[in-house]
Amino acid sequence: MTFLFNSDARRGAVFANAFARELPDLAFAMDPAAVDPDAVRYLITWTVPDNLARYKNLEILFSIGAGVDQFRLDTVPADVKVVRMVEEGIVRMMQEYVAMAVLALHRNLPAYLAQQRAGEWRDIPQPQAGSRRIGVLGLGQLGQAVLDRLKPFGFPLAGWSRSPRRIEGVTCHDGERGLEEMLAASDILICLLPLTEETRGFLDAGLFAKLPEGAALIHTGRGPQLDHEALIAALDSGHLSAAMVDVTDPEPLPAGHPFWAHPKIILTPHIASVTQPATAARAVIDNIRRHRAGLDPIGLVDRSRGY
Ligand code: NDP
Ligand code: OXD
Repeated sequence: MTFLFNSDARRGAVFANAFARELPDLAFAMDPAAVDPDAVRYLITWTVPDNLARYKNLEILFSIGAGVDQFRLDTVPADVKVVRMVEEGIVRMMQEYVAMAVLALHRNLPAYLAQQRAGEWRDIPQPQAGSRRIGVLGLGQLGQAVLDRLKPFGFPLAGWSRSPRRIEGVTCHDGERGLEEMLAASDILICLLPLTEETRGFLDAGLFAKLPEGAALIHTGRGPQLDHEALIAALDSGHLSAAMVDVTDPEPLPAGHPFWAHPKIILTPHIASVTQPATAARAVIDNIRRHRAGLDPIGLVDRSRGY
């Protein structure tokens, strides 16, 4: 039986060590050309290889990242379990990024950076955290972790998901009506939705119009969820005050794209969170153990929902 690692060699070396220690009965391979395809039971990768069909005995296809939108799920046989990455390193980094972004927007950093460039020394009226309402789109692993990390600051917290949720200290919304309610009460909106057919183009002019005047956006979901022109229009009209954008479509953005130089946008190159090999290897090993024990792996993708 073989575990095939199809990602970068640096992370592969960490995985190889952990597998040798924890699952010595499972061969670990990093070179697809050198494996017996019939022996491959587990494959970890960012995209589905074109020749997936050669792994006739594949049991689990692991994503090396938290998202699975880059997988063409229709090319994966129905009996293969698809599992996204749920590991503490990704969670911790997303908590850091979103905390940084919320504080930057709460404390008017984009405006102060613009003032610095203009040589202007002027304070901007500062609302207190208790009156800056945060809304999170997506209450999964990352949305919940981010809300948890924001709790000590004292912001009123809300979140929205497909199914109803109960989270202590968070006003939870679901459904169309719940979305409207949350948007109307979000001074800082954070997108942590997976990319599916339902969430493609979700952050558009209609959604921005439902946010309060002066609201700000943090986008850490996926690039194709954001309508770039709508964001620029909302910022230029003053309806939105600022945005922190980590994911775009395409990535990287082409030279001359208006996001690069927009004074109200802080742009980062899809670095909000990155799979950390030591903790990811542990999570994958635990999932293989669960699978062998007849349990569902953590992060099992529901193909009918696409996440
Ligand atoms: P989860 O699958 O754990 O959570 C997804 C959440 O989104 C769930 O609460 C789900 O609702 C909700 N959701 C999905 N579709 C809808 C919908 N149509 N309407 C309402 N709610 C919906 O995902 P994670 O939290 O682990 O990750 C979220 C995303 O973050 C990833 O898919 C990826 O795109 C992005 N990401 C970005 C990174 C970056 O560096 N920028 C790094 C890692 C991830 P319900 O609870 O009802 O199922
Ligand atoms: C992920 C990402 O999905 O880095 O892990 O975006």
